[in-house]
Amino acid sequence: MPRVVVFGSSNTDLTMRVPRLPEPGQTILGSSFTTTPGGKGANQAVAARRAGAEVVFITAVGDDDLGRQALELYRREGIDVSHVRVVEGVASGVALIFVGDDGENLIGVAPGANHRLTPEDIDGLPASLFGKDEVLLVSLEIPVETALRALRRGAEAGMLTVLNPAPVPAISESAAKDLLSAATVITPNRVEALALTGMTPEVGAQPDWPRCAERLLAMRKLAVVLTLGSRGCEVATAEGTWSIGAHRVEAVDTVGAGDAFSGALAVALAEGRSPLEAAAWANAAAALAVTQPGAQSALPNRDAIDRLAARGAPPYRMASGGGSCAIF
Ligand code: RIB
Repeated sequence: MPRVVVFGSSNTDLTMRVPRLPEPGQTILGSSFTTTPGGKGANQAVAARRAGAEVVFITAVGDDDLGRQALELYRREGIDVSHVRVVEGVASGVALIFVGDDGENLIGVAPGANHRLTPEDIDGLPASLFGKDEVLLVSLEIPVETALRALRRGAEAGMLTVLNPAPVPAISESAAKDLLSAATVITPNRVEALALTGMTPEVGAQPDWPRCAERLLAMRKLAVVLTLGSRGCEVATAEGTWSIGAHRVEAVDTVGAGDAFSGALAVALAEGRSPLEAAAWANAAAALAVTQPGAQSALPNRDAIDRLAARGAPPYRMASGGGSCAIF
């Protein structure tokens, strides 16, 4: 069984279902409320575990009931949480989530203990966690300097480092470049891709996609996998750029779909599949994740991913030659 080491956040998701997402200043009556485990790091760890990998999850939780419950759930999934930091006197991470009837969402996160994970915590981890040719998956609900230290330690050890740059931090262009350069594969969505290249347009202006793509492609080592929600994803490698269409499913709740994608992608890469094959498989995992409510409760297991991926995977379209700007 391949191993994936996941660095990222652990949250508890407080989710309200509403007919439509509220505007600023508006009060909306919801139809249901749930409290479930979440956090981009935790979702990715669970996604990778259910997709068939041995998973070590590195995060920080508070010494409170939410933190203890979260760790118990990860253990029950079979995830190694022996290196999780429990921070005294600090609350565990919490996310407030609205999900509209169209499946779209709005999320605010109070990171709590997640933001106490330090670069020194990374330095203190045993070398055995950073195995050559194994996969390290990092997301950004933890401090950026900690994420960067994790990516660099993984890269130095010869790991394949995957960065899901979500949520995009407010950092300088050079800090973003450092982060992206330490990753072998990156999985931004369109908003993240623009923000990381410092190219978010003025309100009403069109994004300069070709230049954005050019900058990302110049920084990548192996692949840029751009996630496009209901439009699937695009993959750029040295060999070329491909578009992978989305599976047709009924979207009930899109929370955690990106995490399902990154977790499954990491597993497929750990199994030695090419970035293109890995993205096509992860695309099926993300499609399944939107068909059920909740983040972790909706993450599919390996058999379900295999079945959907095999059931007429959407066609690959070679969009252009390598190094061009056609990824967007
Ligand atoms: O990516 C989805 C996750 O974002 C939710 O589970 C929530 O905790 C926020 O971190």
